[in-house]
Amino acid sequence: MKYRLVSGPEEPQGAKPTMGMGETMSSDDLKRIAAEHALNLVAPGMKLGLGTGSTAAQFVDLLGAKVKAGLDVLCVPTSEATRRQAEGLGIRLSTLEETPYLDMTVDGADEADEALRLIKGGGGALLREKIVAAASARLVIIADNSKLVDTLGRFPLPVEVVPFGLTATRNLMKSLAYDAGCSGEMTLRLRPDGTRFLTDNGNYIVDCAFGEIADPEALDDALKLVPGVVENGLFLGLADLGVFAGPEGVTVISSEELDFEEGETV
Ligand code: 5RP
Repeated sequence: MKYRLVSGPEEPQGAKPTMGMGETMSSDDLKRIAAEHALNLVAPGMKLGLGTGSTAAQFVDLLGAKVKAGLDVLCVPTSEATRRQAEGLGIRLSTLEETPYLDMTVDGADEADEALRLIKGGGGALLREKIVAAASARLVIIADNSKLVDTLGRFPLPVEVVPFGLTATRNLMKSLAYDAGCSGEMTLRLRPDGTRFLTDNGNYIVDCAFGEIADPEALDDALKLVPGVVENGLFLGLADLGVFAGPEGVTVISSEELDFEEGETV
């Protein structure tokens, strides 16, 4: 994959996060800044995929305001939560069945490396997110820059599995992941009330704390061999642009050939 650092922090790492006038920037402020950058990429008439999670929700919020001001776009949400939010904001919605080709999807991520390989699924929407991303001409990832890592795996990898045969599925996942160089705690995701978390598709999530994933492609291939695995949270070769907001600036990583000048933001 080609990638290019388009703009990065100008201040030394560790400089005090400020918003001018000495105010400290919160993680929500950074998510908002990343979302604002993505909003600049939206053009009238576009068909958009809407991601899931707190950062994607900021984008949906900003898009809603633009729609209220007259912007015409047609959107496909990646989760029921995002559908409800977008509906509440008066954003015109479609389904992927009705609108199977999208111009751009804007989504968050739990982790990204410098080649824009991602871990997603912290919100449990990874399956629909991946289907929508694959149907989009362009996937734009927005996040605060704490999500940028040298090696994927600090965030436990979410894997969506069907409820039938959970133990057998987990055993095979463990064995094939081991062959791909990964091992660690594999935990069935629960809701805060202790009941099993169910995805929008009625499946379970197994969170795999493998630690550093040296070969994400090998792990992805291995997990795809397990019959009960519906999808895993590794998004490899899908993201085209990553916008990561930090207290010292916005880092944009592109896998596209774009006409950016060094030091320019989108
Ligand atoms: C949901 C996701 C989210 O994009 C990911 O969990 C990031 O969420 P947030 O923006 O709240 O940190 O993959 O399935």
